[in-house]
Formats: sequence, C-alpha cells, structure tokens
Amino acid sequence: MKPINASSISLLVILSVACFYSSCGESQSELGVAKPVFDAHIEPILVENCIPCHRENGGAPFTLTSYEKIRKKAKTIAKVTALRYMPPWPADPSYSHFIGEKRLSEAQIQTIQNWVKQGCAPGKNPGALLANVKPFQSALGTPDYVMYLDSVTLQQGDQDRFFLMKASAQLPEKTYIRAVELVPGQRQLMHHFNGHLINYTPGAKSNFNTQPLKVEITPNSVKSQTADLDLMTDNGIIPERVHSVVNYLPGVIGQMYPEGIGTFEVNSQFSIIGNDVHYGPSAKTCTDRSKINLFFTKIPPKRGLGELMLGTNGVSKIEPPLVIPPNRVTEHKTQFTVPEDISVLTVNPHLHLLGKSITAYAIKPNGDTIPMIRIPKWDFRWQYFYTYEKMLKIPRGSRIEVIAVFDNTVKNPFNPFNPPQTVSERYEYGGSSMKATDEMFQFIITYVGYQPGDENISLRTDETTRSKP
Ligand code: HEC
Repeated sequence: MKPINASSISLLVILSVACFYSSCGESQSELGVAKPVFDAHIEPILVENCIPCHRENGGAPFTLTSYEKIRKKAKTIAKVTALRYMPPWPADPSYSHFIGEKRLSEAQIQTIQNWVKQGCAPGKNPGALLANVKPFQSALGTPDYVMYLDSVTLQQGDQDRFFLMKASAQLPEKTYIRAVELVPGQRQLMHHFNGHLINYTPGAKSNFNTQPLKVEITPNSVKSQTADLDLMTDNGIIPERVHSVVNYLPGVIGQMYPEGIGTFEVNSQFSIIGNDVHYGPSAKTCTDRSKINLFFTKIPPKRGLGELMLGTNGVSKIEPPLVIPPNRVTEHKTQFTVPEDISVLTVNPHLHLLGKSITAYAIKPNGDTIPMIRIPKWDFRWQYFYTYEKMLKIPRGSRIEVIAVFDNTVKNPFNPFNPPQTVSERYEYGGSSMKATDEMFQFIITYVGYQPGDENISLRTDETTRSKP
C-alpha cells in the first residue's frame, strides 16, 4: 500500500474543500448506491414516489405493493424512471417549485438502475414498508363527512360523456368547511369535475333530501337540466352558487390550505352541483361511484379564495384566437394585468390533446419577472393543481403572461385526428366545449388578497404530508 505522505494529505484537503464549494459532492452522489438492496434502498424510494398511485384505488393501472410485483416489473421500472416518465411531474423544477413535487433525484434513478442490473437483491426484510400501504381513501386524512355522487355506468366503446350531477348533505348545524376533496371511483375515466355549492336556508326547501341526482348532457336535454336536479326552494328560487368549491382533473389530489384560508361556511342543508362532469372514452363496461370528502374546522373563515381564469372562458382573450390549422405548430398568448396585490396559492394550466408546452410568468411594473410555472412537455394525462410552497406575491400592476404552444401535426402522438384537421375552441351549452377533441387554453389562478408577510407563509399543512400512504 502506498504510504500517505504529508503532501498527499494536503492534496486531499484541497480536493475536499474544492468539492465543498463546487458541486463535486453532488455529482458523486449522482452515482447512487453502488450495491443497493430492496429493503434498504429501493423500497423507500418507491413508497414515497410511486405507491401513492400504484396501490389500490390509487389511479395507476397496476399496483406495486409487494417485492414480487416490483421485481416482475423491474426492467420497465428502470426504463420509465430513467426516462422520467414516472413518477409523472410535468412542471419544470428549474423554473418554480410546488408542494408534492414528485421527481426522483439523479442518485435515486441511478440506484434503481444499479439494483435492476445486479438482479434485484431483496435485502433481509423486503416488503416491511409496503406492508403498511393501504388502499387510497383520501389525500387529506379521515373525512368528517362523505357526500356520494350518483353512480354512472359507462359502456365499453363509449365516447366522451357529460353529466350534470348533484350531491347533497344534511348536517346538524352550520359548519365551517376547511377542505373539499373529490375522489373519483374510476380515476382513469373521470376527466373533469367542477363543483359549485348551493346553500339552503333551513326550511326553505321542504323536500330537501340527500338523494344524489344526475342528468346526462346531450343536445336534447339542455333545457330540462335545472328542473331534473330539483334545485328550487319552495318559493321557486334557486339560491346563488358559490363557484368552484371543489375541482378535479386527472392526477389531482385533495388540497388543504392553512387554517382560515379558503375555509367557507355551509348551512345545515346544502348541495354540490357538478357542471360538465366529464368521463372519457371507456375500454370496458364499468360503473363509477365518486364521492366528495368534507373536512370540517372550528376556525372561522379569515381569507376567502379568489379565482382568476385567463384564456378560454376567462377574463383575457387568446391572441391569436385559438384556431389551430392542420399540420401546423402554433403559439398563442393570453395576458392580464392584476389590479391589486395578490398572493397566489395554486395554479392550474389546462390544455387538451394538441397542447405541447405552456409557460406562465408575471412581469412586475419595475420590469422584473416572477416565474410561475413552465411545462416544457405538456401531457394531457397529468393536469395537477400546482400549489406553491409559499404564497407567491404578485404586486398590483403586474402583467401575467401565459404562452401555450399547440402541435397539430402527425408528430403529436395525442393528435385525435389523422390526417390532422382544424381544431379550435368551440362553445356549446353556454360554455366552451370540454371535449378532448376540441381545444382549450386556460390558466387558472387561486389567490387571496395580499397581506404583509404572506411571502413567508408556508402552504404545507400537516394534512398535505398525510398524502403519503
Ligand atoms: C400520479 C400517479 C403516479 C405516480 C406517482 C406514479 N405512477 Fe406509474 N403510472 C401511473 C399511471 C396512471 C400509469 C398508466 C398510464 C401511463 O402509462 O401513462 C402508470 C404507468 C406506469 C408504468 C407502465 C408504463 C408502461 O409504459 O407500461 C410503470 C412501469 C410505472 N407506472 C412505474 C412507476 C414508478 C416506478 C413510479 C415511481 C417512481 C410511478 N410509476 C409513479 C400513475 C403514477
């Protein structure tokens, strides 16, 4: 063995100091664990990043809830993680950060590669963590009340189907609601739920009951929708709706904000109306029974949520208008100047199948740019509501700009038409068409009016960390 002399020691010191100040340390760890075993190295990565979906009711088409199941799929797992196809997280982490960011580090990816190449060693006690995994119930814990939606049977070969739905609740008294979470029965088929609240003054609707109702939206049923949902009070009025108390899009899980933010009060009798409840085409006949979980709080509402919608159906127009000719890649922009200081909690970019990328930022009156979100490779299958780690202040007079690119060529594997056809926004039933074969370009911002110190308020709540199994 070569003796270590004084000069080689000082070289080591210099090297490690250099590593400390540069990123050598990081690139070392990017190699991952050299001889990984399942229980110590692989299982924790998968439980954290994959199992939330790859368990019963988790939304993925198969579960990865045992060593055996994982070993059988090991090669595919190595492939999809190296490609960063799984876990799905379309937002660019070099642009902005969000709660629940699901992204493996280079080291984790490499550890999985090493484990698979070396034959998937189990370790001493494989499956101990997986043994605690339960079927998905809620991302927010145990609900205080569950509202059920009416069941819908989807036939094999069905195309898009749309419903208007009502779920109702009867509580002992007026109650503060801290969070509302829609849990689809068939996660792979429900594409969209947007729920509005109707509060009934006690006694105003003598036939109030909690029976769920639904009406299918077809060109012929438009007129009868309101009547069929039995929304009227005894006096023949329909109380005003509180908009968007719950939303669902593919990949969305329940969100709870810090106490007092976004809390709202319900009367003892209330209904949630789902407009345009959208089911995508179904490959097999099955029945969906979705539910709405309610989480109560004793703390009264302090700050109500605002919703700002840019683009389709929203406050700002799209330029040039959203008409995408065949065989073209087009870029469109929508912009809005905020009239007051706001603190942004959550953003939700929404495009359909021709979407290729979307970027949103705000330009402050002094010219500085606030990055909001960048999705370099749009994927229709993952339309999360992205919640910032801390509230994002956008000062009065800032211009929010959103740029989306659409690919209407045959190179887009999701193009619903071959050969490509002109695709555009299409309005029907008084709103824009939600059909996946029509396009949308929407950017939805959930905010509260700014208060000093908001920038330091973390939006992580104990409950969001409960989203892990
Ligand atoms: C947000 C939910 C979610 C998370 C988190 C997630 N998956 Fe998936 N996964 C899905 C869904 C849904 C599909 C099926 C649709 C698809 O292939 O895009 C899928 C498909 C797969 C496939 C099949 C791909 C193919 O081409 O056949 C593999 C393998 C996989 N996931 C592994 C993983 C691994 C490993 C992780 C964690 C590192 C992970 N997934 C995290 C939801 C998820």
